[in-house]
Amino acid sequence: DMGGHDTYMHKEIFEQPDAVDRVLRGRIDDRFSTVHLGGLNLDAHDARKVRRVKILGCGTSYHAGMIGAQMIEELARIPADAEPASEFRYRDPVVDPDTLYIAVSQSGETYDVLAAVQELKRKGARVLGVVNVVGSAIAREADAGVYVHAGPEVCVVSTKCFTNTTVAFGLLALHLGRIRDLSVSDGKRIIEGLRRLPGQISEILKQEDEIKKIAKGYAEARSMLFIGRVRGYPVAREASLKLKEVSYIHAEAYPASELKHGPLALIEPALPTVAIVPNDDLLEKNRAALEEIKARSGKILAVAHQEQEKADQTIVVPKNEDELDPILMGIPLQLLAYHTALALGRDIDKPRNLAKSVTVE
Ligand code: M6R
Repeated sequence: DMGGHDTYMHKEIFEQPDAVDRVLRGRIDDRFSTVHLGGLNLDAHDARKVRRVKILGCGTSYHAGMIGAQMIEELARIPADAEPASEFRYRDPVVDPDTLYIAVSQSGETYDVLAAVQELKRKGARVLGVVNVVGSAIAREADAGVYVHAGPEVCVVSTKCFTNTTVAFGLLALHLGRIRDLSVSDGKRIIEGLRRLPGQISEILKQEDEIKKIAKGYAEARSMLFIGRVRGYPVAREASLKLKEVSYIHAEAYPASELKHGPLALIEPALPTVAIVPNDDLLEKNRAALEEIKARSGKILAVAHQEQEKADQTIVVPKNEDELDPILMGIPLQLLAYHTALALGRDIDKPRNLAKSVTVE
């Protein structure tokens, strides 16, 4: 049942305010400015012993993990990084007892992720699952976990589950942070930010008509460049994947800081750039990158917290706390991918060559 929407992708994009509400529900503890995660099974003593966090997933779940790693570093000050599960399992990784491994998956059935979890467990590691489908193979195989509560996701192209996974990571980062050195006031600040998310997502979704118009201008593009820096980079990665999957337009994501080390050679009027430009301490650096692109007559669409002078168009999104901004900034670009694909007459819910869950090697 698509509930009045023409595609599941559209329905799922618009379910995000409710979905985020669900992942937060019953988990916030205002008294201690922290969160309770029922299935986590990690007491304060164990949590303090964690020296590193390694997040493993594929595709969109890997991108959500990149955002998660960043939030864990920022809020809990534990070194953290994300890696495609498929790469990890084939490179004979060094498994370290002081590392907390986290497997991320919407379906909970992705074979590469499951195989990584099994290998880790065989080597005595502690593995948490951040999973959407309750009782799925990865959820069962993991030692403990956090459910993402996005509800069923039917479209092959993941949208609401990505967003909910990043919010689940926000909760986990806050939890780990409050066990370690995150102050009560910072805890409060993050909780207030989390609570603002559903309303802010609704605000973004109200801009659909405008984004649809913008998308028409990109349907003819042969290729697009997505750039972002630090918090914005995984957002650019995910937006680029969304566009590729659903519209079949070639897209590439790059850290904005790497532009001058190569991709700047590609810039010309026929290669549009989508830039993620949050109002954080890197704003001036990002503006300088826009200037570089403009100077080479590149067309720019910015996703930002305020109108960007150097951009041809800006989609303005509401500001949250710096650490939580990445959760919101990709949402207009889901709509951009959707409307570009629609203008091109693509099979939106079932892009060619793809399956919802990849249960083979
Ligand atoms: O079910 P999973 O989250 O483990 O799936 C991982 C990827 O296959 C998945 O995210 C894929 O990249 C989607 N088609 C993204 O839209």
